[in-house]
This record gives sequence, C-alpha cells and structure tokens, in this order.
Amino acid sequence: MIFKTVSYFDIEEVKAAKEKVLKYRDSDFLLDSENTFNFILKDNREIVGEADYKISVDEADLLYIYIDDPYRKKGYGIELLEKSLLFLFERGIKNVYLEVNENNLPALSLYKKAGFIKVGKREQYYGKENAYIMKKAIKEE
Ligand SMILES: CC(C)(COP(=O)(O)OP(=O)(O)OC[C@H]1O[C@@H](n2cnc3c(N)ncnc32)[C@H](O)[C@@H]1OP(=O)(O)O)[C@@H](O)C(=O)NCCC(=O)NCCS
Repeated sequence: MIFKTVSYFDIEEVKAAKEKVLKYRDSDFLLDSENTFNFILKDNREIVGEADYKISVDEADLLYIYIDDPYRKKGYGIELLEKSLLFLFERGIKNVYLEVNENNLPALSLYKKAGFIKVGKREQYYGKENAYIMKKAIKEE
C-alpha cells in the first residue's frame, strides 16, 4: 500500500474515488486551500482511502477519513490515520481534533485505537444525532 499526500496531479482521481465511495462530488477540492493536508492510501490500481485535515498554526482538525468498502476491516483505516498523524507530527502539529457521530461505531473504534479521547459533545450536530469531539495530543508541550 502506498501512502502519499495528494498532489495536483491526483485531484481528478481523488475526486472520482470520493464520489464512488461517498456518493458526492467534491467541487471545491481542499487543495485549493493553503491550510489543508490531504492524504491517500493507494494500491497499485486504485485509491483505497483518503484523510483530509485542516490546519491552524499547530493544531489540526481531521475533517474526514474514509476507506473504500471492499478494503474495510483490514487495518487500512488505522494505517492511513497513523501515517497521516506522523506526517503532521513531523511538521510541528501538537494537537489533532475531530468530530464524530456518536452512533458511528467503526469510526469511534478506529479513533479510540489511534489514541483519541473524548473531550466534549455537540448536541444535534448531525441532525438529531450528537457528535463527540475527540482529541489526540501528538506532541508534548
Ligand atoms: C471508519 C473507517 C475509516 C474504518 O476503516 P477500516 O479500514 O475499516 O478500519 P481498520 O480496519 O483499520 O480498523 C480499525 C479499528 O476499528 C475497528 N472497526 C473497524 N470497522 C469496524 C466496524 N464495522 N465495527 C466495529 N469496529 C470496527 C476495528 O475493530 C479496528 O480495531 P481492532 O483491529 O483493534 O479490532 C471505515 O469504516 C469507513 O470508511 N467508514 C465510512 C466513512 C466514515 O464513517 N468515516 C469517519 C467519519 S468522520
């Protein structure tokens, strides 16, 4: 499996993969912003998953992570998450935050395994469903 940051040359492929898995097309791809990092995991044929972060000074927000259906529950989610966190650590990011639907068990398990802890709750963040705010300190102060 290849782990890499998304370059301008990958954009169309990344958009197509996202559309296939998530059923929507990203018209404003995040690469348009200076404050984002986009990572993909690829086998030699196709994109297996993507993780997108928004950066502000020394903090990052994980905006989204997905693994394509046929590749789920094989350890690729944790691989993509851990490799992207290492990348952020090496660039001086200290804390990473995310929001997750309280009913999204696969994502909650993934984040817990990666060392994220619950630090708050947002009521009715996803329609009627609540979100947990989770945090991982990746660099000591
Ligand atoms: C969340 C997601 C990225 C996990 O990817 P994955 O490649 O299946 O995860 P992994 O195989 O690396 O598993 C990591 C841990 O999560 C747990 N996990 C994964 N899928 C699970 C499921 N369906 N139910 C319960 N636990 C699950 C695993 O048990 C594993 O821990 P373990 O190895 O100690 O048992 C994937 O399910 C996905 O793309 N979901 C749809 C998109 C989404 O909801 N993204 C998060 C929104 S912010």
